[in-house]
Formats: sequence, structure tokens, C-alpha cells
Amino acid sequence: MGLLRDRFGDGAAARMQAFASSLEVDLEMIEQDITGSLAHVRMLGEVGVLEDAEVEALVDGLTEIGEELASGTWVPTDEHEDIHMAVEARLTEKVGAVGGKLHTARSRNDQVATDVRLWLQQHVAEVRAALIELMTALLDRVEADGSLVIPGYTHLQRGQPILLGHHLLAHAWAIARDIGRLDDAWKRANRSPLGACAMAGTGFPIDRDVSADLLGLGAPIDNAMDAVASRDHALEISATCAIACTHMSRIAEELVLWSTAEFALVRHGDSYSTGSSIMPQKRNADAAELVRGRAARVQGDLAALLSLLRGQPMAYNRDLQEDRRALFDAVRSTHDSARVLAGTIQELQFVDRFEDELHGDFSLATEIADALAGAAVPFREAHGISARMVRWCEEHGCNLAGMPVEVTAEFHASLPDHMAELLDPRAATARRTSRGGTAQSEVDRQVAALRQLS
Ligand code: ARG
Repeated sequence: MGLLRDRFGDGAAARMQAFASSLEVDLEMIEQDITGSLAHVRMLGEVGVLEDAEVEALVDGLTEIGEELASGTWVPTDEHEDIHMAVEARLTEKVGAVGGKLHTARSRNDQVATDVRLWLQQHVAEVRAALIELMTALLDRVEADGSLVIPGYTHLQRGQPILLGHHLLAHAWAIARDIGRLDDAWKRANRSPLGACAMAGTGFPIDRDVSADLLGLGAPIDNAMDAVASRDHALEISATCAIACTHMSRIAEELVLWSTAEFALVRHGDSYSTGSSIMPQKRNADAAELVRGRAARVQGDLAALLSLLRGQPMAYNRDLQEDRRALFDAVRSTHDSARVLAGTIQELQFVDRFEDELHGDFSLATEIADALAGAAVPFREAHGISARMVRWCEEHGCNLAGMPVEVTAEFHASLPDHMAELLDPRAATARRTSRGGTAQSEVDRQVAALRQLS
């Protein structure tokens, strides 16, 4: 039951038919297509456009088609342009001419728009759950290993000692915002296009609130053209996915970096790493690398959707058929990435390897400057003194702990009494109790705050 006008003979028709079909990607939302049709039929019955017996026949037929699909006894074939045509054809085969009444007061334009929103209703919830799982994995890790002292970096140069928990929480907050963004996007996407028809509504006495309620979608979209032509819900959700994947790629990158022999801060679990076919010692962080790489694809999905929408005139254009591949890929990839990354994080084994090494490290230079500033030396001057101490150490091939007391005293008389404490990296983290600082109390406060999110 193709709608193509075959003006060019068989060869051309076949060529165009394959090109025009959206069946392959539509199969992903065939359940939603049936759900949408069931709601439409019930609504038509309620308002008296269909008789009870007709409603019953159509509902039974559609329900059976759903069962056939689930059991694999019916598989739509590509003689149909899309699933909407395929389901209607199957229905008519089953229930006879009354099948043709299904499409009263409806068009494939509002139908496909409804199917996609129903698909999102389910899958956005699944992405949300996966992101919660990821955030929870991070928080569990903070509670298990968060008190390890590690170097904090800016420009990938050692900056100041921090707690591992502080670092992991920076990622957890970003994921928490992704969850909030997804909720916001879904709030706007959660509207019903059904009953908008082709673009101008209908003269049949339909009640769009009834079908919206039956579908568990929010209120009907107010303007019928907007209902069939808008895809900003797809843009918002893909943008949210692209941002979340970008955040995940940052986590993933650090997990790769931290597992190198040079960092040796973490060991990846067996389930999320691989060996090499040639180098027996290898433990490659494949899961993290794949998450890092998948983000590129999702960014591409967003770019494709933005580009697709750019300059499209009102209302429905066939271009819109190209939206699902990118949208579904973005949503599915975000879900899968979050789950794999959560699993990776659950299996990580951190190594307490930096606290000793950081004793007297130059990353404690800020402590000296702060201590002098606390003793009434203007901070700029204190910074200069600390910088000169670092230079002295570099020239003498030692770290700050290797500086003889008499030399320290020359830099500032107040320093020798405090050096031991100033050069202790854990003490440096403990001093930073300002809101959002790396002190354990702040780490604990943030974990509790994020655990509230569910
Ligand atoms: N397969 C089409 C799509 O995915 C369904 C809507 C077709 N509408 C139309 N006017 N040709 O967008």
C-alpha cells in the first residue's frame, strides 16, 4: 500500500520506494504506533465518531497486531512506506473495511509526531535512570575512596593537593545538572500532537484531551501546525544528551589517563577493560575510551538535527522523516554510555599512591603563600616569597621539604615553625573548609546533597 505516484515505470519506482521508506528506523517505535492508534480509536468512540462495535473491532485488531509483533508472527515488510501504513494495512487484512476508519480525523503527520513523543516518554525515563545510576556510582566511589589525597590539576599541571572525593564530586555535579536538564526538556516535550491531523485540525468533533490523557502525555499541543512541524523537543533532548555525553567523555578521559603507568592511580576492572592480542601486560580502558568516542557521535546527532530543522518552511516536510535516526541514536547512546561508565566506576580500584609523593611537593607552594598572608604579609609579596622558595629548590634539586631550616628562615622568619604542617598534603586539604572546598566536611556535605536527587 504505497502512496507513491509511479510516474516513471518500475525501475524508478523501486529506486524511490527504497529511498522513501522509513520502515527500518520506524520499527523501533511500532509499539508506540499501536498505542497511539488505540488511544485515537477510543477517543473517536467516546465522541461518537465511531460506533461501539467499530471501536471494539479496531481495538481487538490493533491488540492482536501488538501480540503478533511481540511473538514475531507478523513482521512488517518494506512494501510499506512506513509503519503507519503497514499497521493500517495489517489491520484491514484482519478486520476488513472498518480498518479504513482508523485514519479518520488523523494524519500520518500527527501520528508520527505522537509516536516519537511516546518513544521519548519511555526512553527519556530510561536515560534518566541510567544517569542516576552513574551519579550514584560516583557518589559510592567518593564514599569508598574519596579521602585519598591526589594532586589537583589546572592546565594538567599540578596545582594543589585535593581529596579524590572532591574531584569525583565535580563530575557528579555535572551529571546532576544533566539530569535536571533532561527533566526540563521532557517537561516541554510532554505534550500531545495527536488530533492535529495534517496541519489544520479537523471538522470531526474530536476531543484531543481524551487521547492525550489516554497516552499519559500532557495537554494537547495548542497549534496544529506547530504540533506536526516542530521538532525542538528532539533538539532539546539531543542537546541534553550531547552535553551529558560530553561530560561523560571528560570522566572517561581521566579514567584512561589515571590508569596509565605514569599516573598509576587506578586499575580498571576485568569486565570493562581488555587485554591485547600481542602485549600480555595490557589492561586497556576500552569502556572508557568507547564512552569518550561515543560522545562524538552524539554531538554529530545534535548537529544533524539542528541542520535538518534549519530553514524548513511550515508545516510538515518529508525531510522530517530523517529526524529519528539521529534522535534515537543520541538517546540510546547516552543511555548505554551512562550504564557502561557507571559499571566501569563500580569496578575501579584506586591506589593510595600520591599522599607520600606529595609531601613537600611544589603543589604546596600555595600553603606557604597563604600562611604568610595569614601572618599579615600582603598576599602578592607572600606569593613572591613562595615562588622564590620554589626556584631555590629547583636550583638545588630538592622539593620544599628538602630545604634546610636556615634557608627557610631567610625567606621569612616565621616559616620554620610551620613548615612541617604546611608541607603535609592532607593538612592542606583539611584547611580548605570554605563552601565547595576540598575538606572532608565539604565532600560529605555534597554527597548528602546529591543523594537527595532521585
Ligand atoms: N514516514 C513519514 C515520516 O516519518 C510519516 C509522515 C508522512 N507524511 C507525509 N505527509 N508524507 O515522517
